[in-house]
Amino acid sequence: MLPTDPFSFGVSLPGGIPTRYDNHITRRLSSMPGQFADQPAYAAMLAQEDVLLYEVYEIVRPHVAGELLHGTSIVHPGQVGKEYFMTKGHFHAELETAEVYYCLQGAGMMVMETPEGEWSVQELRPGRVLYVPPRWAHRSVNTSHDQDLITLFVYPGHAGHDYGTIEQQGFRKLVVERDGRPQVVDNPGWRPPAARS
Ligand code: 6PG
Ligand code: NI
Repeated sequence: MLPTDPFSFGVSLPGGIPTRYDNHITRRLSSMPGQFADQPAYAAMLAQEDVLLYEVYEIVRPHVAGELLHGTSIVHPGQVGKEYFMTKGHFHAELETAEVYYCLQGAGMMVMETPEGEWSVQELRPGRVLYVPPRWAHRSVNTSHDQDLITLFVYPGHAGHDYGTIEQQGFRKLVVERDGRPQVVDNPGWRPPAARS
């Protein structure tokens, strides 16, 4: 039974693991085919090792509008070619639902876009709160060389996830390393909404 009474928990750093959680989700390189722009680099890396890209610790709540799903997201440092490790990214299945992220540790970017192709990239660093409005797909990118990017997220219980749209079209912008620094560049593989069937 999920608790119906108020509860609290801690998040220890540098690990980012909540002192209580229900699910631990892990995502490896093999779960993101076609998402990194440098496909030869992706294939070469995968042939070596199916690297752990990120982890999510979830506090499960009923999937209803009045509840708030929350937990921590931990993106490990690394690159596929010049592109930093990142989450799959998704629209919420219930498009008109927002999300709040609070950055606890590390350095990164949140890459966002609407179904109409409007885009925004916002910095994530400790102490920053990021609001992802309804309709905006979101992907976190770890731009650090050596630190985990740890965020606390909160979103409505009925939001759900649409991963398929991003798997098909990609995000409009990529975050890559240029001259030792993160840069936001166009994704050559992005399929604009008009090109979709
Ligand atoms: C959500 C949140 C967040 C997200 C993780 C992993 O709606 O669930 O945005 O918990 O799931 O940061 O990212 P992906 O879900 O895109 O793999
Ligand atoms: Ni989300």
